[in-house]
Amino acid sequence: MAKVEMKSISKVYDGGVRAVDNANIVVEDKEFVVLVGPSGCGKSTTLRMVAGLEDITEGELLIDGEKMNDVPPKDRNIAMVFQNYALYPHMSVYENMAFGLRIKKVPKAEIDKRVNDAARILDIEKFLDRKPKALSGGQRQRVAVGRAIVRNPKVFLFDEPLSNLDAKLRVQMRAELSDLHLRLNATMIYVTHDQVEAMTMANKIVVMKDGKIQQIGAPLFLYNHPVNKFVAGFIGSPPMNFLTVKVIDDGNCVLLDEGSFKIKADSSHTEYLKKYAGKEVFFGIRPEDMTYSQAGGNNSITVKVTVVEPLGADIHLWLTTETQPLVARTEPNFTFKVGDTAVFIPRMEKARFFDKETELAIIPSSV
Ligand SMILES: Nc1ncnc2c1ncn2[C@@H]1O[C@H](COP(=O)(O)OP(=O)(O)OP(=O)(O)O)[C@@H](O)[C@H]1O
Ligand SMILES: [Mg+2]
Repeated sequence: MAKVEMKSISKVYDGGVRAVDNANIVVEDKEFVVLVGPSGCGKSTTLRMVAGLEDITEGELLIDGEKMNDVPPKDRNIAMVFQNYALYPHMSVYENMAFGLRIKKVPKAEIDKRVNDAARILDIEKFLDRKPKALSGGQRQRVAVGRAIVRNPKVFLFDEPLSNLDAKLRVQMRAELSDLHLRLNATMIYVTHDQVEAMTMANKIVVMKDGKIQQIGAPLFLYNHPVNKFVAGFIGSPPMNFLTVKVIDDGNCVLLDEGSFKIKADSSHTEYLKKYAGKEVFFGIRPEDMTYSQAGGNNSITVKVTVVEPLGADIHLWLTTETQPLVARTEPNFTFKVGDTAVFIPRMEKARFFDKETELAIIPSSV
């Protein structure tokens, strides 16, 4: 069992920087939770407070119901894997993995067993005698993970462990870590600024910005029901489009007036948008929810093509209305040229709307 609870946790550094502000996060036993957000939002600070590497200024940290605030790092039964691996260069892979156990005076035979077991799990048995400098980035990363595994911790913490790897290796290691999570059946907290890592690996994502938690939820829930414009724009690539439109209540339905087009809102959104009649809102639509339409017609919008990015599996089309830019993702077989006029029909039932001032979602997540 290893359940981690952060209750109203804050971190104020010397000098007054409030790096984490009133964070409430529950990591269930065996859950893979990913903290994601832009640089400086407080991800590492949160993780370091769980590890005991930073003091907690306010709030409580519980592991399996036991308060951990004042328990020293070595007694928390937590293992952390860092971005820079932090391997000892003069020690072999075996020694690197065994070192922590030696310090703890674990019997030699037990150390040998744990190191060999971890090496087998990570497929690094044949490198055990090598020094870290004779390994590739991905192999070094595996050794760093191995060093965590041999300790048999209650909780694994990862701070951007893949960011030093090239794109292809990152994809491979991502899958390996997900697989490892299943095989070890362990509780893991993983920090990244890469929303793709968050989407692909997490059971639950915590989105942070400026030290504050924005939203916590399953990856697809966050994708489909972002609570605010920040989460909507952060999760998904290319990001959601945001067009400023004016809301018009014409009795039966709600129209959204962009200036160069007027479009009818989905009936399930009408009651919420009516409250904004006469006001401007952000109309959020994902690139894949813009369907190309040769025929045009009702509820279509006409745009100009500014950039064509053929990616093989699909095309990212950069477009513009008379005044506002947006992106559409289309089938790979369409042929578009810069300067073309194109007609799209947005899937209005998928649209999201955000208050112009608060940037909070206007449509509740249950709709
Ligand atoms: N030791 C420190 N003293 C003072 N301020 C700090 C200290 N460490 C971090 N900070 C500040 O706290 C905030 C959060 O930092 P943190 O390292 O947690 O961000 P992060 O989300 O991990 O960012 P990154 O993605 O760049 O690693 C930042 O504004 C940072 O400048
Ligand atoms: Mg960090």
